[in-house]
Amino acid sequence: MPAPWLTGGEIEMTTPPADRAAQPAFPTTTPAVSAPNGAAAARAVGATKVYGSGETAVRALDEVTVEFPGGRFTTIMGPSGSGKSTLLHCVAGLDTLTSGRVWIGEVELGALSDKQLTVLRRERVGFVFQSYNLLPTLTALENITLPLALSGAKPDRGWLDGVIDAVGLRDRLSHRPAELSGGQQQRVAMARALASRPRLIFADEPTGNLDSRAGAELLDFLRRAVGELGQTIVMVTHDPVAAGYADTALFLADGRIVDWMDKPTSQRVLDRIKALGE
Ligand SMILES: Nc1ncnc2c1ncn2[C@@H]1O[C@H](COP(=O)(O)OP(=O)(O)OP(=O)(O)O)[C@@H](O)[C@H]1O
Ligand SMILES: [Mg+2]
Repeated sequence: MPAPWLTGGEIEMTTPPADRAAQPAFPTTTPAVSAPNGAAAARAVGATKVYGSGETAVRALDEVTVEFPGGRFTTIMGPSGSGKSTLLHCVAGLDTLTSGRVWIGEVELGALSDKQLTVLRRERVGFVFQSYNLLPTLTALENITLPLALSGAKPDRGWLDGVIDAVGLRDRLSHRPAELSGGQQQRVAMARALASRPRLIFADEPTGNLDSRAGAELLDFLRRAVGELGQTIVMVTHDPVAAGYADTALFLADGRIVDWMDKPTSQRVLDRIKALGE
C-alpha cells in the first residue's frame, strides 16, 4: 500500500480532544474555502534543490515526492539543515526547484509566469517565515494587513479580529517590530499569513520563539482552522509537542523524507526522533 502522504486518501481525520472542540466557533461569516478532503492542496514530485555548484554544491532536497492533503495539518520535522525550509519555500512557490515538479491544487507552478505565480500565492497561500520578514517601518497591524492592502482585498473583520485575539496581539497593534519581542514579532508574522484567510498555510517554526502557553494558543488556533474551516496547514517544527497537534508528521533527513507518522503524539514523535538519530 502506498504511504498516506503519497496518496492523500488514507489518513483519517483527527478528532480534536473534547476541550479543544468545546471552544467557541470562529467569529466569521463567510463559508470555508478549502480543497476537498483527501484531494492534494499541494504536492511535489521528484523535487530536487541544489544550491551552488561544483565541490561546494549542497543538495538541500533530493528527489522528494510528497503530497499535502487538503483540510489536513501536516508537520515536517528533521535535523537542522535537513531541507525543511527549502521544501516549504519550493512548494509554496517562493523558490524554484533544480529539478522536479510542484503543484498547488491542480496548478503546476513551473508552468506559471512570475506574475501568475505572484497572484496564485497571494490568493491561496499564507507563509510564515522562519525569520519573520516584517517591515520595520510599519506597525504590527499594518504588517498584518499589508498583503490584503496589496491585493486590494477587503479584510473580513470578524476573521481578522479572531486572528488577532488568537495570537494575543490586541494590545500591541500600534507597535513597530523593533518595539516587539521576538515572540511577538513571530505572532505578527503568523497573523499576517492568516489575515487573508488563505486555504493553504505554510508555517516555518511558527512557535520557535513562543513560551509554551502562547505556543499552545497558536497551535490550538491552527488546529481549529483545520478542523472547523477545512484549511490546510504545513508546519515545520522542532518541537514534538507542536507536532502532536498535526494529523501527520513527516521526517526529513539530508533532503529526503525518511519516515512519516499518522496521528502523531509528542511521545511517539520524540521516540521516533531518537530512533532516527541512532
Ligand atoms: N541560499 C542558500 N545557499 C546555499 N545553501 C543553502 C541556501 N539555503 C539553504 N542552504 C543549505 O541547504 C540545506 C538545507 O537548508 P534548510 O534551510 O532547508 O534547512 P532546515 O531543515 O530548514 O534547517 P533549520 O532547522 O536549521 O532551519 C542546508 O545545508 C543549508 O546550508
Ligand atoms: Mg529552516
